[in-house]
Amino acid sequence: MTMTVGNCFGSYVLLLTVITLSVIEAADPAVHDTFLKCLTENTKTASGELSKIVFAQNNPSFTTVLQKFARNKRFVTAMTPKPVLIFTPLEESHVQGAVICAKTAKLEIRIRSGGHDYAGISYVSKQTFMVLDMSKLNAITIDVKNEVAVVQPGATTGELYYRIWEKSKVHGFSSAVCPTVGLGGHISGGGYGNMLRSFGLTVDNVIDAKIVDVKGNLLDKKGMGEDLFWAIRGGGGASFGVVVSFTIKLLPVPEKVTIFRSERSWDSKTADFVLGWQKVASVTDKRLFMRLMLLPEQKTLKATIVALFLGGADEVVSLLGKEFPLLELKKENCSEVSWIESVMWWNDPKSLENGDKPETLLDRKPNTGIFLKRKSDYVEKGISKEGWETIFKSVVELGETGIHFNPYGGKMDEIAPDATPFPHRKGNMFKLQYNVNWVDPSIDADKNYTKQAKKLFNVMTPYVSKNPRRAFFCYRDINTGVNTFGQNSYKEGEVYGTKYFGSNFERLVKVKTAVDPQNFFRNEQSIPVLNANVSMHSLYISYHV
Ligand SMILES: Cc1cc2nc3c(=O)[nH]c(=O)nc-3n(C[C@H](O)[C@H](O)[C@H](O)COP(=O)(O)OP(=O)(O)OC[C@H]3O[C@@H](n4cnc5c(N)ncnc54)[C@H](O)[C@@H]3O)c2cc1C
Ligand SMILES: *[C@@H]1O[C@H](CO)[C@@H](O)[C@H](O)[C@H]1NC(C)=O
Ligand SMILES: *[C@@H]1O[C@H](CO)[C@@H](O)[C@H](O)[C@H]1NC(C)=O
Ligand SMILES: *[C@@H]1O[C@H](CO)[C@@H](O)[C@H](O)[C@H]1NC(C)=O
Repeated sequence: MTMTVGNCFGSYVLLLTVITLSVIEAADPAVHDTFLKCLTENTKTASGELSKIVFAQNNPSFTTVLQKFARNKRFVTAMTPKPVLIFTPLEESHVQGAVICAKTAKLEIRIRSGGHDYAGISYVSKQTFMVLDMSKLNAITIDVKNEVAVVQPGATTGELYYRIWEKSKVHGFSSAVCPTVGLGGHISGGGYGNMLRSFGLTVDNVIDAKIVDVKGNLLDKKGMGEDLFWAIRGGGGASFGVVVSFTIKLLPVPEKVTIFRSERSWDSKTADFVLGWQKVASVTDKRLFMRLMLLPEQKTLKATIVALFLGGADEVVSLLGKEFPLLELKKENCSEVSWIESVMWWNDPKSLENGDKPETLLDRKPNTGIFLKRKSDYVEKGISKEGWETIFKSVVELGETGIHFNPYGGKMDEIAPDATPFPHRKGNMFKLQYNVNWVDPSIDADKNYTKQAKKLFNVMTPYVSKNPRRAFFCYRDINTGVNTFGQNSYKEGEVYGTKYFGSNFERLVKVKTAVDPQNFFRNEQSIPVLNANVSMHSLYISYHV
């Protein structure tokens, strides 16, 4: 076996022998039998029924079930380490059983809801592990009268938007633009969408939750206590337990909202145009969200602004006429649409002219994925004209990696940085996403594309946050650090933990240490416990005495 498997999962490249061993060990059918027997004893469901939702590696459906919600093709290759088994619970008690029985079967758990983790952490590990696939726990209950909804983690953002729209044309929710994103990872990780300047993040609008803890207890907010409830609103659910539902606030949206998209090719005026955008995007009316995208295109680039305004076209045209005259926005550049139409258009700019129906938001698009790499950054100070010119040149030179600039401000400034684990509040102008996609499955291509994303990230160093250089947890990037669960687990966790959570990292560690001292709920970027000197061996012993 060679050492070169591309840059998938960074430092994992060197651990191939371990990976191979764990896969071989995984094929042991006794693990499946132990897990199933334990589940039968610990749930009220008959063994025959359970056996249909526990998939061992030799089950003919194993690969289909594994790949169904694996959204990054980098992590569905022959080289990718596989889980020993996959369990797709149908009810909350199955999740309780899974936590208890994973320990009996000596398996680590990787929890997957929508599978959008950019680094595949919800379905890939070099440890001996099982995937707890939450996709069937996907109910959504909308209560318009009380303006709340209860969502299970396997439901998608698109399903949520659709179910709200069925019941009310003047409510929405502040979450991801992409309709296939799973609510389990998205909400527990502090996900956001194009209404964050009006309403903040997903987690700013969560009022209750249910979680299965390390002992298999089912706890609501009252049962879990303020600390744990705080931690799972942005600290990533997977370090603390399995989220089985969130209760969220429905948010008021006008009957008509305004959308526009403005594209410019790169020329001598682009820097001034972008400077004009930079001056207003994070300080303008909080109902306005204007994403700037710099996307390479055949040896040049396009600078595109995509916008949502929670109000009418006349109002936004007049507002931007004053604040951003270089845009030259006219009413005919705008469309006044319903909120659900704006959701469809943000996902697919052709959706409205194609006459797509809101039902398209229910399409989970199973078994699709692309090869992709994402990274993130935060900008605190305006970038100079020379800076923008340097950025444009690098995007064009590298040729495949784009950058999205997502303005903050508005409601984001009003929420304290320690109100939730998500720390990037006031003082941040933009959050950046670096994105590169490719279709060539070769190791060589993987190397080339991930390398250019890193090069662009390096070009951006002078313009972004420092000490530490912060990152967005939902834009999982394995290059921010990896935990190997050894003697240095805490130190390793501190590296990525402070980038994602700033000074909230310490409180997350305290909560983690209190609720899961043996570090059962772990993954390659989980919150470490304070004294991480617990081997898997002692973990199992302690659970079985
Ligand atoms: C195409 C695409 C578009 C995206 N758009 C946006 C966007 O607009 N805004 C944004 O903020 N982010 C966006 N993201 C990132 C997205 O928010 C994160 O990847 C998020 O974690 C996805 O949640 P998931 O359930 O689909 O992912 P998963 O891969 O299933 O899970 C992600 C993480 O959460 C954990 N987890 C999942 N479910 C549970 C649970 N029930 N209990 C405890 N832990 C759990 C997993 O173990 C893993 O660590 C996008 C990603 C993709 C691929
Ligand atoms: C507005 O529309 C006109 C006509 O199609 C176009 O030339 C112009 O670039 C558009 N302006 C913006 C800001 O999109
Ligand atoms: C990778 O990059 C090298 C150097 O630029 C180039 O020669 C090679 O063709 C690229 N390979 C792929 C698969 O893109
Ligand atoms: C961790 O455990 C090992 C072996 O049990 C021991 O030698 C070491 O001193 C411990 N380290 C800490 C920091 O407790």
